Amino acid sequence: MSDAPALLTVQGLSKRYRKFTALSDLSFAVTGGEIVGLLGPNGAGKTTALRCISGVVRPSAGRILVGGYDLGGQEREAKRLLAFVPEQPNPYEMLTVWEHLKFVALAYNTMDGFEERAGELLARFDLTPKRNELVGALSKGMRQKLTIACAFLHRARVLLFDEPLIGLDPKGARELRERIRDARDEGAAVLVSTHMLDTAQKLCDRILILRQGHKLAEGTLQQLQDHAHASGDATLEDVFLTLTAEGGAGDPAAPAAVGTINPR
Ligand SMILES: Nc1ncnc2c1ncn2[C@@H]1O[C@H](COP(=O)(O)OP(=O)(O)O)[C@@H](O)[C@H]1O
Ligand SMILES: [Mg+2]
Repeated sequence: MSDAPALLTVQGLSKRYRKFTALSDLSFAVTGGEIVGLLGPNGAGKTTALRCISGVVRPSAGRILVGGYDLGGQEREAKRLLAFVPEQPNPYEMLTVWEHLKFVALAYNTMDGFEERAGELLARFDLTPKRNELVGALSKGMRQKLTIACAFLHRARVLLFDEPLIGLDPKGARELRERIRDARDEGAAVLVSTHMLDTAQKLCDRILILRQGHKLAEGTLQQLQDHAHASGDATLEDVFLTLTAEGGAGDPAAPAAVGTINPR
């Protein structure tokens, strides 16, 4: 991690759904110019974390700072800096594709250079022929691409993606990875959940692994290899499976053999 101040800071985030604790005292930060992969088995709390950070659901406890603004008390300022692509995008069906892009740009007050930027994003995600069609008439994958295009439209400083690669065609997936890298190179902080560990290994600067709502480990691939007592040629998949195994090094119930696991 660089010495730059974090664009996204999550402190002691917990989320309960009635009596069930989906997330427990999660703390981490993402700096500008960094892509962090959020990994974990199904039910680990990835979507819950991303929904809390994007302001879609209210945390039970904890604090989220976006560009220094507290999502709790300075919601408008914080949300202005955020873009969130949920697992199941739900764009407005009664707008055309172009109107939808314009609506987002207007909402974020970023109409400068809109035509060029929106046109380029449509071309990149193969949506140019659908420009004047109603969103309701798009295929599922196309809606996903439109939602992704919207996320890149307003030059968000913090970009959040929940399993964005599922359902994208190969060209769309490549475009997305390239746009994520570009955003990172322009200084944005990116947090992306995925089960595609080979992609995560190539794309992410750091990895955060969740299990049962707890943070198991966080770091570069090399740091995670050390956490898992794995060799330097172990893949992210090897390390992930070791750390998340029942009773394995990352199991909260297992003896604390892995000293580098975050004590939280
Ligand atoms: N709205 C909800 N009500 C009750 N339980 C929920 C709700 N959303 C998620 N959960 C539970 O919280 C846990 C974490 O879910 P989720 O954040 O979706 O995990 P992930 O995205 O890592 O698969 C799961 O056990 C899930 O069943
Ligand atoms: Mg999920």
